[in-house]
Amino acid sequence: MTDQGRCHTPSSIQSIFTSPEARRRCRQARRFPMRRLKTPAEGPACNGGATVGSDHQPFPTPTLVVDGQSAPGKIHARAATRVLVQRGSGRRPSRHSVTGKRLLLCVVQPEQHESGEGADVSDVGARLTGRVAVVTGGSAGIGRAIAVRLAGDGARVVIADRDVERGEATVRDIRDRAGDARCVPCDVADRAQVVAAVDWIVASCGGIDILVNNAGVPGPSVAAHGLDEDDWERVLAVNLGGVFRFAKYALPHLIASGHGSMVNIASVFGIVGAHLAPAYCASKGGVIGLTRQLAVDYGAVGVRVNAVAPGYIDNDMDERRSRMTPEVAAQHQLAREAAAALQPLGRQATVEEVASVVAFLASDDASFVTGAILPIDGGATSHFNVGAR
Ligand SMILES: NC(=O)c1ccc[n+]([C@@H]2O[C@H](COP(=O)([O-])OP(=O)(O)OC[C@H]3O[C@@H](n4cnc5c(N)ncnc54)[C@H](O)[C@@H]3O)[C@@H](O)[C@H]2O)c1
Repeated sequence: MTDQGRCHTPSSIQSIFTSPEARRRCRQARRFPMRRLKTPAEGPACNGGATVGSDHQPFPTPTLVVDGQSAPGKIHARAATRVLVQRGSGRRPSRHSVTGKRLLLCVVQPEQHESGEGADVSDVGARLTGRVAVVTGGSAGIGRAIAVRLAGDGARVVIADRDVERGEATVRDIRDRAGDARCVPCDVADRAQVVAAVDWIVASCGGIDILVNNAGVPGPSVAAHGLDEDDWERVLAVNLGGVFRFAKYALPHLIASGHGSMVNIASVFGIVGAHLAPAYCASKGGVIGLTRQLAVDYGAVGVRVNAVAPGYIDNDMDERRSRMTPEVAAQHQLAREAAAALQPLGRQATVEEVASVVAFLASDDASFVTGAILPIDGGATSHFNVGAR
């Protein structure tokens, strides 16, 4: 046992072991010598660096992070982390090996965080200070809420959108709130415009730390046999091609940043099917696959790549609305609300509820999260009613 780390089994975590066998293993785990987490001087943030010690382990050690609270009366973002570490013997971890190996339960000590390693909750508003965050499609809707939120967290935000007028309005709004923002015209479906936008951002901001690939279009509501091939191409070019294209040209800068983070906006309709949306579903399914693939390739160079999959958001895509008569738009909105009401949380989400999850994934608070596809759907994809018209 050392000063920096002390192993014990908090009762709240013990309660997750419900079977007698699990309780026996938990008691057994407490008898093993403890391993301490890295101190600030030794290495990266404690949740990402929780694969502690000097043992040579050819495969990454799985780490389970469970929320908790450390110092009484004061919650710390990292001090609040209890970490369950499986120490393997070097074999690839499997479900079987997890149950057969020693389980160690460690709690990061408050002293580590008083010294500045852990962010106090009051620091959260500044967790992206100095980071350059690019939000494609940040002029309106969900992208706008993300841009506002990232700026509120201290990031220097760049909106890359084909709608410059609304982009400039969002920039003014962010600056009115004492945030740092600018806008660059860019159609993400156009390679030359993406290259020019990335060059401009790097020249004017010095690099890119965060990329949020949000720009997207819904496409026409029609079954596959009636879908115009040009519409198919356009939806794929924006929703999937735009993510690939911006990623391709921004990745060298995300790597150079040393803490690059990409968050792609997918959809629950990349996970399950939706009526009359073949191109949209295909494009969002592609975003999910590409997210996982990029996470695999770029984890080793320190870039995290995640996606969120929003469900019914109270911001039906403007483009779709603009092509509807007011009566049809009103009917459409009612249908969405009725469908959303069937989901476990019983309502549509606000754009701010999407933005807060994106801000988390973009930040070091998610320093050990990559390749994740996080539904923001009120439980929709856990439920049978998904895909209702
Ligand atoms: N609204 C929802 O319910 C919902 C649900 C799941 C996923 N999403 C996804 O969230 C993202 C944002 O959706 P939203 O509802 O805010 O849409 P929105 O139409 O309100 O805003 C989209 C923004 O992207 C921009 N944009 C569109 N095409 C572009 C292009 N080719 N290049 C650059 N910018 C472009 C638009 O100008 C606009 O600013 C999309 O990817 C969408 O698929 C939305």
